[in-house]
Amino acid sequence: MPATIIMGGQWGDEGKGKLTDALAADAQLVVRANGGSNAGHTIETDAGVFKMHLVPSGILNPDCTCVIGSGVVVDLDTLVKEMDDLVVRGVDLQRLRISERAHVVLPYHPILDRLEETQRADDEIGTTLRGNGPAYADKVARKGIRIADLMDGASLRRKLSRQIELKNQILTKVYGQPPLDLDVIYDGLVSHGNRLREYVVPAEVLVQNALDDGQEVLVECAQGAMLDVDYGTYPYVTSSSPTAAGACQAAGVAPTQVRRVVAVYKAYSTRVGSGPMPTELHDEVGQTIRERGREYGTTTGRPRRTGWFDAVAARHVARLNGVTEIALTLLDVLDTFAEIQVCTAYRLNGGTIDYLPARDDLLAQVTPVLTPQPGWLSSTTAARGHGDLPDAALAYVGILEQLLGAPITLVGVGPSRQQLVSLRPEHVPAHAS
Ligand code: GDP
Ligand code: IMO
Ligand code: MG
Repeated sequence: MPATIIMGGQWGDEGKGKLTDALAADAQLVVRANGGSNAGHTIETDAGVFKMHLVPSGILNPDCTCVIGSGVVVDLDTLVKEMDDLVVRGVDLQRLRISERAHVVLPYHPILDRLEETQRADDEIGTTLRGNGPAYADKVARKGIRIADLMDGASLRRKLSRQIELKNQILTKVYGQPPLDLDVIYDGLVSHGNRLREYVVPAEVLVQNALDDGQEVLVECAQGAMLDVDYGTYPYVTSSSPTAAGACQAAGVAPTQVRRVVAVYKAYSTRVGSGPMPTELHDEVGQTIRERGREYGTTTGRPRRTGWFDAVAARHVARLNGVTEIALTLLDVLDTFAEIQVCTAYRLNGGTIDYLPARDDLLAQVTPVLTPQPGWLSSTTAARGHGDLPDAALAYVGILEQLLGAPITLVGVGPSRQQLVSLRPEHVPAHAS
């Protein structure tokens, strides 16, 4: 059975964790594609709230194998802590696998992340400071250390000593920082390597075997396509490709093996960190959205910037990723608004445009053309079926479908597993039924 990709359609935090958990009820394998501990994927079940950073969001489904894919950069401390926390909460990790091709976030990566941010001064990206950018930069520059390298001490020491020598030159000579100790870092890596050894696999073989066997395979992206290094709001982006194409590459799935591309969008917009956000609201409406949506970062706790739904950016993503279905989350957050705005075009230099300018200085200048939609002024949180949603909410869903050119098949009406409305009865995920 071909694969399903679950990707973020905006600037991250769209509810990919909740969606992956829901769809994983009918899947045998979930592979996390990209990103690292910069991601925070929340799942709320009767057993409480789970915040996943590296472990795939299918792990709460007992029949699902969960793979940390080749495109992920793994912060070992975060992973081990996350695994320990899950075990304490009774989650079985026998089904966890880690790709031997995944890269390791080394102790110098978060240090460089912080130093590079400081060097950017007013142009800072607002990264999560987890070292992801420097780790991906080293990967592409062919200076990375991979999970496979942790499995062989002699080879690890040889590769690591060359990198530490180089990084110490940069730390001391460019940034005036103290040098790092090879032995301390080496010992830490060996110890983590021994702890993780039993989980390490050739992930692409596992994924391909599952597809050959006709299993339902989900690919879980981190971040959102507006943070994509190629088609996002560069340079205010992450350092990987949270797109359908990027997901294939990162997960070890061929483009021809993909059947569904499910993009998760919030019913409005949020963004963490710096960079253009054309529909951003600095007023009370923005604050109401932030409070009602509990819009504070899962990983860093930073308040998220909030704004109306940006259909120009959303359509850009839907088209470039061949989105076949949309999950629209956090619709309930809009329950209290008499009127809801949708950005349908941008104004720039006296004209109107319907695409995203590549230049960040131009994108920062655009103002949104807002089209008002009537609100529904009633609670949707108890809705479980199409018929439970107010007409105005269904009309809002219909407008977004038209603007994006893909069907909205699932609607989120609250954070819990059950608060999911299927608009296509044949696709009801097991937790939501
Ligand atoms: P992810 O990174 O895409 O997995 O999303 P996050 O977990 O970082 O952020 C999404 C937040 O919205 C989390 O706090 C979720 O519990 C919450 N959430 C998800 N879906 C819904 C929904 O439909 N309604 C509400 N009110 N909250 C939701
Ligand atoms: P999930 O998977 C929201 C943002 C950061 C910053 C930019 C670069 O939970 O949706 P990085 O640390 O990646 O170098 O930071 O990307 N960012 C996210 N924003 N959700 C995420 O992940 C994010 N991961 C990175 O805030 O603006
Ligand atoms: Mg998140």
